[in-house]
Amino acid sequence: MAEQAPPRGPDLTKGVDVASLIDGEPLLGRVGEDAVILVRRGEAVFAVGAHCTHYGGPLAEGLVVGDTVRCPWHHAAFCLRTGAPLRPPALNPIDCWKVEREGARVVVRGKAEPAPTPELKGSEPPASVVIVGGGAAGNCAAETLRAEGYGGPITILSADSAGPVDRPNLSKDYLAGSAPEDWIPLRPPEFYAEHRIDLRLQTRVTAIDPAARRLTLEDGAQLDYGALLLATGADPVHLNVPGADLPHVHYLRSLADSRAIIAAAEHVRTAVVVGASFIGLEVAASLRTRGLEVQVVAPERVPMERVLGPELGGLVRKVHEAHGVRFHLGEGLAAITTDAVTLASGASVKADLVILGVGVRPALALAEQAGLKIDKGVSVDAFLETSAPGVFAAGDIARWPDPHSGEAIRVEHWVVAERQGRAAARNMLGAREPFEAAPFFWSQHYDMVIHYVGHAEAWDELKIDGDIAAKDCRVSYLKAGKLLAVATIGRDMESLQAELALERD
Ligand SMILES: Cc1cc2nc3c(=O)[nH]c(=O)nc-3n(C[C@H](O)[C@H](O)[C@H](O)COP(=O)(O)OP(=O)(O)OC[C@H]3O[C@@H](n4cnc5c(N)ncnc54)[C@H](O)[C@@H]3O)c2cc1C
Ligand code: FES
Repeated sequence: MAEQAPPRGPDLTKGVDVASLIDGEPLLGRVGEDAVILVRRGEAVFAVGAHCTHYGGPLAEGLVVGDTVRCPWHHAAFCLRTGAPLRPPALNPIDCWKVEREGARVVVRGKAEPAPTPELKGSEPPASVVIVGGGAAGNCAAETLRAEGYGGPITILSADSAGPVDRPNLSKDYLAGSAPEDWIPLRPPEFYAEHRIDLRLQTRVTAIDPAARRLTLEDGAQLDYGALLLATGADPVHLNVPGADLPHVHYLRSLADSRAIIAAAEHVRTAVVVGASFIGLEVAASLRTRGLEVQVVAPERVPMERVLGPELGGLVRKVHEAHGVRFHLGEGLAAITTDAVTLASGASVKADLVILGVGVRPALALAEQAGLKIDKGVSVDAFLETSAPGVFAAGDIARWPDPHSGEAIRVEHWVVAERQGRAAARNMLGAREPFEAAPFFWSQHYDMVIHYVGHAEAWDELKIDGDIAAKDCRVSYLKAGKLLAVATIGRDMESLQAELALERD
């Protein structure tokens, strides 16, 4: 969460000339101690809180789309009429303020009462909802069900010992030591009781019988469901090299993993990160921030080349090198000993701590056992329903028909998982809304943040606009002339505009 500066701009309680407001361009002002944006849409003028409820992003620099505003940092969207969070990663509403017309001026009065939730009109709601997985998708689905007024029982079954956490932070500020532990839970524990969400931790589901609409838990207990969401996420790929099971070798997926790395990092000087993926490099950056000597070993020649292309990948490498990270690229790992790793080339690299970040595999065992249709992921339709009626899937495990690329895709992005959790919940209640959001992710390396919208598994044209070395650029990925994805650095508005363009294409 960003430190919020004292509010700037005009005092909106004194009134603003309507003619001076440009349609769709937020005006930043203040009401007492609160920062507020004023947004004109045609004849209507809205006043809402200026800070995104995710990490405090500046909504005055966001994109207005219809009667919503999208945050420039991680693309959450809020309704200007009600303040409601319409697109994750924001989970909480922004405040709304009363706006009154006085001749040619508008004056902002006190805060408006939160708007009642409009009722979802659809088919008969399920008698109960069970969610397998207490991560991004599962948590968002449960919250959405309650926000939409669903009154039936909601149960989240999670194998994890921690409740839903802000997983992306586990490799970033939290691991670097700059975010306190109380930022990490998505909600305080009492939230679930208050919303009558039965959150059961350390509860692994071992079998599903879709015909009987029944689950079996690890301890043999059984649970019936009206509708089911499968959101089991992904597990780190384990490396099978000598020494991989030594106590100073770590993977990173859960809060417990991140805590274990932090505890280990406090007593050592050198670390080797195996894998130059997003998570691997974020870990490298965080350990550098903690003052460790960090070396990265990876088979690729350019970090992240497969996703970002050689130019941006080259920048990522330079940024890490400028912060003191040493790379061993085009290299494999042969063995790990108590104080070093041996590379495939035979070289030895000192390592008191080893982090293996070589990718993840979707957790499909349950879906396979249940006999759901699988295609390197759980196949879902446009409404995120699996091949079994009443069983939905979302997040890292789901392969859905992406209308932008025209292909069935599966991605491992936080925002997509949350949005799919929300969409699946609404569809359980009969909304019948196809999932059409363009995929989005961000990745942070020291003070450089990469934004990426769309999905390009392969491209035949890469267009660069701006100056990559100056960290001010837009990279477009095209195939047969069609724009598939856009990566930006230092151009938050362009990323929002690209997302909208992809969605309207
Ligand atoms: C360290 C780290 C940093 C990341 N950073 C970013 C980032 O910057 N940007 C980005 O877009 N993405 C990022 N990601 C990826 C993002 O976190 C995932 O895409 C997202 O969490 C997927 O959500 P999900 O709900 O599908 O699964 P998860 O959040 O992984 O949740 C899955 C849940 O299912 C539970 N579970 C699994 N099997 C069972 C079972 N049989 N019974 C009961 N429970 C079960 C697990 O315990 C877990 O609670 C990061 C991931 C990690 C690990
Ligand atoms: S700060 Fe607004 S979406 Fe993250």
